[in-house]
Amino acid sequence: MLDSLPPRVSIYEVSPRDGLQNEATPVDLASKKLLIESLIGAGLKRIEVSSFVSPRWVPQLADAESVLTDEIPPEGVRFSALCPNSKGLERAMSVGLKEIAIFLSSSETHNHKNLNRSTERSLDVYEELVALALEANIRVRAYVSTVWGCPYEGTVPVNRALSIAQRLLEFGCYEISLGDTIGVGTPRQTRDICQLFASEIGVDRLALHLHDTRGTALANALVGLECGFQTFDASVAGIGGCPYAPGAAGNLATEDLTYMLDGLGIETGIHLPALVEAGRVAARILHRPLPGKVHQAGLPRRRRPS
Ligand code: HMG
Ligand code: MG
Repeated sequence: MLDSLPPRVSIYEVSPRDGLQNEATPVDLASKKLLIESLIGAGLKRIEVSSFVSPRWVPQLADAESVLTDEIPPEGVRFSALCPNSKGLERAMSVGLKEIAIFLSSSETHNHKNLNRSTERSLDVYEELVALALEANIRVRAYVSTVWGCPYEGTVPVNRALSIAQRLLEFGCYEISLGDTIGVGTPRQTRDICQLFASEIGVDRLALHLHDTRGTALANALVGLECGFQTFDASVAGIGGCPYAPGAAGNLATEDLTYMLDGLGIETGIHLPALVEAGRVAARILHRPLPGKVHQAGLPRRRRPS
């Protein structure tokens, strides 16, 4: 155990998107921009800043264009946003976004609830969408959701997620993020999933997207590291959840993940005290206690900046 972990890990921050998409109280534009700036200040290099989805379906992120207007990522920082169809791509292109993320579920029912179409239809839409995006020099990441379990169907055969992921890679997506959308995963299941995907696809093109509904996200991330995964999605202070996945709590908290990685001597490029500050920004914006453990406890004394 802990013998052959990767020397560095890339963290893909989802708080401005996954974190805010399920908030009951609207968050104003200035607060969203402040959160993004705090995340950049903490050293995050990949940030999912919003969603170009239907504003009727996710009104919380209806201001995606405004979030990106005048928001030029500093050198080395990449912004991305969810995009379900060509209308979303047009919107992303109108503000010069250079990366989008497409998404679908390995379970049919969640896919219908989330995207109002079948998984097969989603793949057809995405085949065309990825081609259009690549033609316009836009990189495409993809999520496969409900890999560990579906809120409507329960356990989902993992081979289904695998064949979906393989098709998305054939379309030209550069990375597949495997989602434990409702946070049901446990370490042995995670090991089986990670080993299968690692051997069939290769860890260079994979990421883990873990929700912490049942307190197992960090344990599952450690299992992912042991299987060689080097990219992890996380959300500052542990905010997040899919509005169309009942019971989905927040994501793995970026501070908790970074704290663990720092302790393991794994490089992330993130300045943990500044990240804790970004979590405080999130708490001020959302006016409620947030679930992340490091966010709640703070850093131990030896880690505080002098
Ligand atoms: P639909 O209602 O079937 O759409 O929704 P439609 O194509 O029939 O269009 C209906 C109307 O919506 C039309 O307007 C379209 O123009 C408009 P009208 O003519 O009636 O005025 N419309 C749009 N407007 C703006 N931007 C767009 C867009 N598309 C259509 N992109 C649709 C289908 C896919 C659009 C809808 O179901 C949708 O937006 N779903 C997104 C739901 C979502 O964002 N869920 C949360 C993210 S997924 C998640 O959290 C999981 C993840 O974190 C990973 C994990 O945890 O596993 C990623
Ligand atoms: Mg999610």
